[in-house]
Amino acid sequence: MSRIQRTDDDGTSLYVHVPFCVVKCGYCDFTSYVVEDTSVHDTFLAALDAELALLPVPRHPTTVFVGGGTPSHLAPQRLEALFALLRRHVDLDACGEVTMEANPESIDRRKAEIALAAGVSRFSMGVQSFDAARLRFLDRAHSAECVVAAVGELRAAGVVNLSLDLIFGVPGQPLSAWEDDLERALALQPDHLSCYALTYEPGTRLTHELRAGRIARLGEEEERSMFLRTREVLHAAGFRAYEISNFAGRGGPCRHNDHYWLQGDYVGVGPGASSHRSGHRATNLKPIEAWAKSALARVPPVATAETLTPEQRVGEAIWLGIRRADGVDLARVGRRIGCDVRTALWPLLERHRARGWIELDGDTMRLTSEGLLFADAVGSDYLVGEPDAIQTPSDRR
Ligand SMILES: C[S@@+](CC[C@H](N)C(=O)[O-])C[C@H]1O[C@@H](n2cnc3c(N)ncnc32)[C@H](O)[C@@H]1O
Ligand code: SF4
Repeated sequence: MSRIQRTDDDGTSLYVHVPFCVVKCGYCDFTSYVVEDTSVHDTFLAALDAELALLPVPRHPTTVFVGGGTPSHLAPQRLEALFALLRRHVDLDACGEVTMEANPESIDRRKAEIALAAGVSRFSMGVQSFDAARLRFLDRAHSAECVVAAVGELRAAGVVNLSLDLIFGVPGQPLSAWEDDLERALALQPDHLSCYALTYEPGTRLTHELRAGRIARLGEEEERSMFLRTREVLHAAGFRAYEISNFAGRGGPCRHNDHYWLQGDYVGVGPGASSHRSGHRATNLKPIEAWAKSALARVPPVATAETLTPEQRVGEAIWLGIRRADGVDLARVGRRIGCDVRTALWPLLERHRARGWIELDGDTMRLTSEGLLFADAVGSDYLVGEPDAIQTPSDRR
């Protein structure tokens, strides 16, 4: 499997946020809305066009990711309109990778054909589980049969690079049930898999129920067993764990997410989307009305903007990059930000190495197999400021 060659400047990627869903899942805090009146979808498309015209969006982004929310929730004509407007601003045919997120209940052959014709090269479908009780617990709108049918529709349309998202660590879930989910996902022959441990995000229904004592978090040991078993099962099936939660099969890694983890520049459009260019970060207004009103008035729909210090940029580079199997190239980070990372962080690097959590191989810093189990804690030690305040488009949109 070929690895992506990295230079110090990997260009700028584009993230397009489509904030509509058929239901709001109990675990999800991404910017998404359930709207009855679908004329809001048209307002969204007009505002997106206006926002793209306001921004320095490169004609040839490194990668494009159309995510959500649920892009496949748009009706076929609106999906056509979405891609037509994107193509006016960006040369999708020349992009290294164009991903679209889809949900099983709303993707079909026709929508997949529209996306493929517009230049989409990769689909990512949120499955989460094949078990009826767990799907209900998570508020998912689909059944296991619906997933199988959706994969059939995507393949019939000609999709050759298909990723599936799964969630483990759901309250009451035994290891055998997670193994069953993995087997059923593998039986669909995906080209890539993302397997996330369930997290309890502020403001979600699950977090509310956890605090009220109505549900109990799965034990740490059980979750760890699931994490380790995932790696064994997927490795045996020929998948490479190129990042803690991401496994590359025939389709290779997700280049777009890899670009984030390598702290590449990106422009994000849509409600709640963020952009990051050489240490300058901006995050859009989340409420769809406020975001659309601003964009349509030709005013950047930005809620917050900040410039990171070199120390903050280094901390984030390690926090993001340490989850990659290839580790973090400290010399590359130093060249991009303009500092000597090894010298600046030597006491902390030494401490983590002494505890057996990281290894240093020349300029490359990598988690050990022990460190893999504490990746979040190790990574957040390098952050300057509050870890909760730092989010990437791949985990909080
Ligand atoms: C925000 S969703 C967008 C894609 C699509 N709408 C869907 O439902 O899959 C992207 C992925 O993030 C993951 N995700 C979102 N919130 C999560 C949480 N609290 N814990 C674990 N995974 C989560 C899910 O696996 C989901 O497929
Ligand atoms: S997980 Fe997906 S479908 Fe569910 S609310 Fe979040 S974005 Fe929407």
